[in-house]
Amino acid sequence: MKMPFGTVNVTQKSKALIREILDSNRLSNGKYVRQLEKEFAKLIGTKEATALSSGTDADALALAVLYDFGASRGDEVIVPALSFAATGNAVLQAGFTPVFADIDRKTLNINPKRIAAAITKKTRAIMPVHLMGKPAEMDAINRIAKANKLFVVEDAAEGYGARYKGRNIGTLGDMAAFSLYVAHVITTVEGGMVVTDKSEFAEVLRSLRSHGRACKCEKCVLNISSGYCDKRFKYGRDNDIRFVFERIGFSSKMNEVEAAIGLGNLDDYKPIIKKRRQNLKYLMGGFNEFNEYLATIDEGPDEEIGPHAFPVILREKADFRRDELTNYLERRGIETRTLFASMPTQCAGFKFLGYKPGDFPEAEYIGKNGFHVGVHQELGEKHLDYFMDSVKQFLSKHIR
Ligand SMILES: Cc1ncc(COP(=O)(O)O)c(C=O)c1O
Repeated sequence: MKMPFGTVNVTQKSKALIREILDSNRLSNGKYVRQLEKEFAKLIGTKEATALSSGTDADALALAVLYDFGASRGDEVIVPALSFAATGNAVLQAGFTPVFADIDRKTLNINPKRIAAAITKKTRAIMPVHLMGKPAEMDAINRIAKANKLFVVEDAAEGYGARYKGRNIGTLGDMAAFSLYVAHVITTVEGGMVVTDKSEFAEVLRSLRSHGRACKCEKCVLNISSGYCDKRFKYGRDNDIRFVFERIGFSSKMNEVEAAIGLGNLDDYKPIIKKRRQNLKYLMGGFNEFNEYLATIDEGPDEEIGPHAFPVILREKADFRRDELTNYLERRGIETRTLFASMPTQCAGFKFLGYKPGDFPEAEYIGKNGFHVGVHQELGEKHLDYFMDSVKQFLSKHIR
């Protein structure tokens, strides 16, 4: 038996679209990217969605939008200490300084109490992460943001299918960034999406993804058909709008082939989320048996956890190490991933920011003691039972 971490679905519809796209010779950002954006916005429940080339870029470009709305380079963005490194990388890539706040070990998410202490005159935004699909405490976060006039950008990379107080994750801040990397529920292989209700943000995003150029209409007639565009020389006879650069930009467009893979995935979204939720809940129920030694996350009454993966955290009284357990599982064909790390104190790249081990005890604990396994749609009860039997056998050998 094997229990792989992830799976990927390239549907018949995607394959047919890809053939059509290859024959059409229109490969870069075009009508299918636009269609994916529209369908994605509808799915999440926002007015706008802007397709980009990765989830990390979605984080970074959403933050870079804020330069058009009062932020300055070097301003601060508060992020949880625990996340996939992309969250912290993106803040730096956007030209801001990440300021880390410790998490709550029970939720794996940023602890709102730690946010207040991290606010300075330079703070412009809070970027909560819905880690492992568990919604961050958005009411408290939005309250703090409002009181301090801060933007809220959700890192919803892992938040597909997650709901908070009756609303979809991705609709709870000023903007939200999703990843469409292969490990995620909707994939374009590599890709990202920023959703928002504010069309002025989406317009800036279209400029940012294309080098900061002034040409940022929702549907570009110039690039699609080389047709007449009455905006082309609005900056003067010598200034083609495509070569007027209004802001420091990125090169982060999605292409048509990627969009075709995403469009096929969207058709299967509901049954995939349903199956993954079933798997997640099955494991959450089954793990009660191991509660003395192994913790996971709980689902509160006001939320639905997005079925990204299943986290496991060794409790302090467990007298075995994480790698002993994960190596045991891996030898039995069960793929595991660590539960990330405290970015500022356990990831070498962030050392220059000057944080010290011990600054983020909760994030560091998870960094040392957490791991996660897949709950994807190709897995069923026989895989999950095999995983739980394996954990049981491990515990029976290691608990004295
Ligand atoms: C929380 C979080 N943020 C951002 C990202 C970055 O997404 P991508 O890999 O598409 O760049 C990921 C990655 O998967 C993630 O888990």
